[in-house]
Amino acid sequence: MSVDTKGVLLRERGGRLVLVLIAGYVVAAGVLGGALVAMGAIPPWREGSTFELVPGTAAMLLGAVAILAYLGGTPPSEAPLRRRGLALGAVLFLIGLEEAFSLHKIIGSERVVDLALWLAMAAVLHSFVSRVEISDRAALFLGGAWIVHGLSVLVEGTTMVFVLSPTAAEWVDEFLEFCYVPLYGVAVFCLPVITRFDNAATMPQDAAQRASFAGAVERAALAIWGEIGFRLFRLSRPGATFADFYAYDIERKLATGASHPTLGKRKRVRRTGQALDLTTARHGARGRFVLERLFLEGLRPEHRVVDYGCGSLRIGQHFISFLDPGGYWGLDVTDSFYRDGLDLLPPGAAQARCPHLAVIDTTTLSDVRAQQPDFIVCVAVLLHVPPGELDMFFDRLLGLRAPHSVVALWFDESATLVRTQAKAWAYPRATILAQAGRAAPAAACSVEVFDDITARYGGLPVTRSILWVRPRAAKVPSE
Ligand SMILES: C[S@@+](CC[C@H](N)C(=O)[O-])C[C@H]1O[C@@H](n2cnc3c(N)ncnc32)[C@H](O)[C@@H]1O
Repeated sequence: MSVDTKGVLLRERGGRLVLVLIAGYVVAAGVLGGALVAMGAIPPWREGSTFELVPGTAAMLLGAVAILAYLGGTPPSEAPLRRRGLALGAVLFLIGLEEAFSLHKIIGSERVVDLALWLAMAAVLHSFVSRVEISDRAALFLGGAWIVHGLSVLVEGTTMVFVLSPTAAEWVDEFLEFCYVPLYGVAVFCLPVITRFDNAATMPQDAAQRASFAGAVERAALAIWGEIGFRLFRLSRPGATFADFYAYDIERKLATGASHPTLGKRKRVRRTGQALDLTTARHGARGRFVLERLFLEGLRPEHRVVDYGCGSLRIGQHFISFLDPGGYWGLDVTDSFYRDGLDLLPPGAAQARCPHLAVIDTTTLSDVRAQQPDFIVCVAVLLHVPPGELDMFFDRLLGLRAPHSVVALWFDESATLVRTQAKAWAYPRATILAQAGRAAPAAACSVEVFDDITARYGGLPVTRSILWVRPRAAKVPSE
């Protein structure tokens, strides 16, 4: 049996790094605490001292983020997890209140309040961990924070008079409190990173080598950033989808003169980060690969083609010039992107070729369905659809099919579900095939790997793949 030495090494180094970071944090907390006590600057037993306020404020902030995440809303399929997130947030918030403003003075007994919060935390963490996919080490890390919290309750509850002097016991208690609240926060927010890192040990050797820890940390940070942005957006627009948030965010950035790899009139070159003002010629030189791939499927000028999530017509421009006038339908969640695309077409092309462009809504969808499209293409869109909105996305897209339609859906494919950027996901093939099978049960679905884009995601193995949804071949009657 071969041993995956590189994966194991990676895991061991990661383990050491985590331990060093924790040890460093604990030593720093002890030194800081000791220095403050020695200087007599902040008597540790005084209510409202820094020792009380720092963990208290940290806990309240963490709790507030979790509660905000709940209020911002998550699709119904994630509702149980949301409720647990709310419980976690509420308990952290109460711990914060207790630490910073001595909740026990309002309720009565300090010991009862501390013990109740600690036990509530155990229940919440247990149910949280059983719902979220995390590695054993990540669970141990979270459990460790809970044990430190328990020690603090124990020291405070018993005052440890038999072992420590009251002042020393108070100091130990404050020190533990200083440690456990940030540890909870780090543990909860680092769970996906630690888990991904640990999973690298079980990947094939080359993949483990490439899945860099720095990349995982960056993706986790981007995911948190994107999620906070979406939740805040939804606070003022209840019921808005991620597609609404995506369009709003990019429109806002383009309006300030920013560039984007595929949208608007300025192109950002991915490799160099350089921004280029697009001319008709520069625009025309990109996005032809979809037309060329459809030639292999028998595309002819008289066909009707739908470009779902057409953006600034990077792909659509080639269909507009190839198809007979009126044969192209470009749909998007906003009209602002395709308006930019129209400005970039050769002069007179829009008038001569009569492309149909429309914003996606129920009327548009039924109008386009009535056209019985021959091909439906969708490029660089599914990667911006979060897991909770896949059902709606597939229902809408595949609901446009006529019995003879062929659908080509480009997506980022990875071995497991990964949030690759703040507003992008890579999906496992099985998830995409299951969605297609659900939304188009009578069709024949298959996946083709188009190209390898591992380099784009800092070594994370991702391919750009195409989901094909074709009519099932008619059965030849047996003689
Ligand atoms: C990266 S751009 C790609 C545009 C174009 N397909 C291309 O390849 O150049 C993503 C486009 O998908 C649209 N979009 C995002 N989420 C969508 C959704 N759920 N349904 C339909 N379109 C969506 C956006 O408005 C945007 O125009």
